[in-house]
Amino acid sequence: MVAPFQLNWPDFVARYWRKQPVHFRKLFPTEFLAKHDAFRILSAASKSANKPGEQVALRFFVDKSYREFDARGFLPSNDASIEDYTRRVTEALNGRGFAVVLNKAHTWDIGLWRQARGFVKGLYSEIGVPESTDAVIWYSRTEVTGFGVHEDPIDNLLVMLDGRKRFRMWAPEVLQRHPHLVGHAGYESILGEAQTFDLEPGDVLYIPQGYYHVSEAGSEPALQLSILMAVHKHYWIESIQRDATKLIDSRLSKVEKSQTIPSFQPDKARRSPEMPENLNTMLEAFESIGTDLRLAVSRKWLARLSGLGLEAAPKQEPRELKDTDTVWVDPSEPVLFQVQEGQLLGAIYGHSFAVQAHPKLVELFRDLNSGQKYKVRELIKKHSGEATVRKKQYALDAAFIRSMLGRLYSMRAIQVEEAAARPARSSTKLPVKRATKPSAKKRVRSEAR
Ligand SMILES: [Fe+2]
Repeated sequence: MVAPFQLNWPDFVARYWRKQPVHFRKLFPTEFLAKHDAFRILSAASKSANKPGEQVALRFFVDKSYREFDARGFLPSNDASIEDYTRRVTEALNGRGFAVVLNKAHTWDIGLWRQARGFVKGLYSEIGVPESTDAVIWYSRTEVTGFGVHEDPIDNLLVMLDGRKRFRMWAPEVLQRHPHLVGHAGYESILGEAQTFDLEPGDVLYIPQGYYHVSEAGSEPALQLSILMAVHKHYWIESIQRDATKLIDSRLSKVEKSQTIPSFQPDKARRSPEMPENLNTMLEAFESIGTDLRLAVSRKWLARLSGLGLEAAPKQEPRELKDTDTVWVDPSEPVLFQVQEGQLLGAIYGHSFAVQAHPKLVELFRDLNSGQKYKVRELIKKHSGEATVRKKQYALDAAFIRSMLGRLYSMRAIQVEEAAARPARSSTKLPVKRATKPSAKKRVRSEAR
């Protein structure tokens, strides 16, 4: 459930978006994100960050400096509560202020992911979907923002979750007149020109990009969630360039490295205008790149549609589905899919996948998206079979359908209900993946990202 709130987004866009800050008091009468949930997310991210080789967008600040190397011992790990954690760190730092900041917090928790998407949905209906949306958990016990008076190149919808904070804000012109104050915590001389906002839990503050700000929190801890929205003008062109480079690299890796172009021989070259065979072989490697690039970009587009520009939601543990399990898709959250170049491209919650577009598989997705409930064995019976896709015969078998459903479950696309346990004869035993007949018929393959 997304916490209810009343906000007139068209009015917000007309009056404030990219123009001036605004403070909505008690926009969320019920919790946007509970304190213990925020702490659970911070702890899970910290545990991952402590594992070698893991890349987690988690930072720890002490006073004004970013203590990159010492951060690990100061992250929440086995602390029983956020209060215990705060006590431990405050003691370890001899009372100095600190802040823990987790970017992409929505990728750690499906509840927060849905909440963040639900919050910005109405706004994005007005302004379009920004190229990135980042939900950042910010927990701090620090008197003044470590960065001092600063501006960010992004728009921020800041939700106060716990504690209180006073924000001082200045229009860009003010700091243009006092450039020496940028990055400093001493701003008394321009206090008279500041707009002041006192935030309490449930309040939302909009900080437009480029607007200068600083926060004052007193000595009490404060917990906030910032939804950061960024527009990269060249997002798609850069993304297509990256995909094209990846495809070119993979094509070239298949070209035999030992192949070299024969050295240029003037006499022969004059006689024959043809390119050397090796050069042609290399060029052939690029021939299907247009199709593959189109598929890659379509997948990305579908993923963005399903996630409203948010990075993919966390997956859940896959499960093996029994014949008697009932599965269905929530019709308000259908799997987006389309058939292109013999592939079925699908997306849900920011995840995308590609499978061969077996006509029965396309039917299966239509059936699921109807919202109707099906037993797994019904779906297997109805959709198993052979078909020709782009002149090749493919077999869609029980094992594939079951594993496809399992993958959809892990992406949270389908709900599963187990049949009530019956005393005798359990059907939990799954048919072991049988070796398919050694024939020209291929099994449907898939790839996910
Ligand atoms: Fe900021």
